[in-house]
Amino acid sequence: MGEILGVGITHYPPLLGEPDHYADLLRMVMNSHLVPGEMKDPASWPEGMRKDWDNEHAVALEHQERHKAALAEVRREIDDFKPDAVIVFGDDQYENFKEDVIPPFNMYCMDSFPSSPFSTFLKDKPNIWNVDSSHEYEVPGAGRIGREIVDAVISRHRPIAYSYKYSRFPHLSHAFANAFVFLDWDKRGWNYPVIPISVNCYGSGVIHTKGGMAQLFDQRSESEKDPYLDAPGPAGPTPRSCFELGQTLREVLDARPERFVVMASSGWSHAFLTEKNHWLYPDREFDSQRHDELCQGEQRKWRDIENSAIDDAGSQEFKNWICLAGVVEERKAKVIDYLDTWIFNSQKCFATFK
Ligand SMILES: [Fe+2]
Repeated sequence: MGEILGVGITHYPPLLGEPDHYADLLRMVMNSHLVPGEMKDPASWPEGMRKDWDNEHAVALEHQERHKAALAEVRREIDDFKPDAVIVFGDDQYENFKEDVIPPFNMYCMDSFPSSPFSTFLKDKPNIWNVDSSHEYEVPGAGRIGREIVDAVISRHRPIAYSYKYSRFPHLSHAFANAFVFLDWDKRGWNYPVIPISVNCYGSGVIHTKGGMAQLFDQRSESEKDPYLDAPGPAGPTPRSCFELGQTLREVLDARPERFVVMASSGWSHAFLTEKNHWLYPDREFDSQRHDELCQGEQRKWRDIENSAIDDAGSQEFKNWICLAGVVEERKAKVIDYLDTWIFNSQKCFATFK
């Protein structure tokens, strides 16, 4: 019988660049015509947010340091565990999930994953490792094992889509590509074969918000819009289906001989998805409850969260963690760090489940 190590991290894209740019997403959102004029004035923000904004540089450096320390600890645990393969749940943010097909979950069964994390998010801006922005990595894949896992999951009456190549996006999508860069912070190399599972976290918004933000800058009149492409679509997978996929995956992995890391790659509530906060800061209360549950070993409760509550909290990407929770439902997490933020878009958590 194989062994499983559960892991949760973030793939926060600004972490690829300099800390002084961490708040650029907030600056961008402040230019949206949908943000009320008075909310563009920091004087109307919550006190903690104003304080962080006034001390942006120092707060950003601390944010980076805590990420670095947490990621190093996670990497140490992965190295100690010596996995045969690393299965990762990550959101597809309008990368391969587009108008032609939106599966709830899709497993990539490939032996090699071309990855270009810097060109994707930073474009030509420098990254902190000074790697050429066009540099392409090859992340090794566990295609054969992935295919056998898909077969076993489907045979347990839980249909799941799968791919042997990227359908749209030319490189490994951001949730996976960034995770492997961050877990190789000191550039020793990432050699564990991976099996990415894309989750349609963005659900009803995946097409019309083009993965989260397009509507914030869409100045067209209602009559110019398309009734399908510019309107909310059908729901994404419910937390229950995410959790139950995790449970099925656990059954399948328990019956195999290999050692698996199963990872969730995502932040929790995102400012640019939290309409009730004018898209300026995340839902810290929603996440604080999830953090409490995690610390108590009560991640089983996440199965019963409603899609509407997830959308209200801007915590769409948290569904990756709900998939992981189904895999490690009975284990108590070691929470390595939990980063509340006002100005750096997304809440972050780092945890392992032994
Ligand atoms: Fe994401």
